[in-house]
Amino acid sequence: MTAFHTLDDLDVAGKRVLVRVDFNVPMEGARVTDTTRLDRAVPTVRELIDRNAKVILMSHFGRPKGARVPEMSLRPVAEAFEGVLGRPVAFVDDAVGDNAEAAVEALSAGDVLLLENTRFYPGEEKNDAEFSKQLAALGDLYVNDAFSAAHRAHGSTEGVAQILPSAAGRSMQRELDYLALALAAPERPVMAVVGGAKVSTKLDVLEHLTAKADKLVVGGGMANTFLLALGAEIGKSLAEADLVPTAKAILEKAKAEGCELLLPKDVVVAKEFAPNPETRVCAPDDVAADEMILDVGPDSVDHYAEELESCKTLLWNGPLGAFETPPFQTATVELAKFAAKLTLEEKLTSIAGGGDTVAAVNMAGVADDFTYVSTAGGAFLEYMEGKALPGVEALKK
Ligand code: 3PG
Ligand code: MG
Repeated sequence: MTAFHTLDDLDVAGKRVLVRVDFNVPMEGARVTDTTRLDRAVPTVRELIDRNAKVILMSHFGRPKGARVPEMSLRPVAEAFEGVLGRPVAFVDDAVGDNAEAAVEALSAGDVLLLENTRFYPGEEKNDAEFSKQLAALGDLYVNDAFSAAHRAHGSTEGVAQILPSAAGRSMQRELDYLALALAAPERPVMAVVGGAKVSTKLDVLEHLTAKADKLVVGGGMANTFLLALGAEIGKSLAEADLVPTAKAILEKAKAEGCELLLPKDVVVAKEFAPNPETRVCAPDDVAADEMILDVGPDSVDHYAEELESCKTLLWNGPLGAFETPPFQTATVELAKFAAKLTLEEKLTSIAGGGDTVAAVNMAGVADDFTYVSTAGGAFLEYMEGKALPGVEALKK
């Protein structure tokens, strides 16, 4: 039994089903460059078609801030989704009002329609009751399949759910089930890997994970702030000196919680941050004044891999090094490959998420071998912080 309603709880035949998807996809001109989010909408849309619903899709795209910005129209995305779905997808230039209502009126059971960008209307981000009412007028039922937008309390993610009978779509359901496997009821021991440039953006995540994980690997630029806190001299490395007291507090909290916090034993340094510069590996307290740390070293990766071997669950957010610039993807790629191997051997449940993390796991070529890779950025982080997501709360029984 899930804590939230799903498609199983809705009688959709012949009904107008308003489905919130996340079609906020990367584009170059009118071309969608990564269809992952379109692919993830397919199971729900297919099921609704098969169950003879009239499917009305809505999404935001970009941040037009309540204005009609032509480059942020969802029209080209409707065409791209048609290709992915293999069925016609109608499009209407409005998300509410007479035109939208007429387009919905024209639907037969099994048809699919995409509404224009909900963020063209100021009421969307304000979660304005009148706007939500106008959206709700287009449907009999509401399905939210956009986990990656669920941290926003907007009309299309939260407001409508207060008006229409609501449920999670299949993609949202999968996401919540897998995140529960990693955080709510994980098989222990749990290793969390948190990387990325700055401690400041991940403070709440780190705090929350010290209470949830048995081992916490801190990598990326943010590890440098912890190394500073431990008294290492880290040369020109990126770090947030003002957060040293915070890093110390997190180290203390981890100790109190019985969470083993793992910092790099060795690091890869260079004098410049550019592709393929001269590098060397050294201990974290052996960085020269004109050098900077750009990746975790090979001994550390071996150490993390060894620790991971005794874990049952991995939750990963953020790269270990400056992975977009070669060769500083090395540690991230190696650990990702090792996690994928353990997963394939059925020794590990591996869950990864967050913007850069997906790119990093893709770079390692192992996205399909992880148990689950979330396409969510901000929503994944807020979930890892232990925060309630308004779009998810609204679906609870
Ligand atoms: C995302 O791409 O992270 C989601 O679609 C949310 O978009 P937003 O950050 O503009 O709300
Ligand atoms: Mg975002």
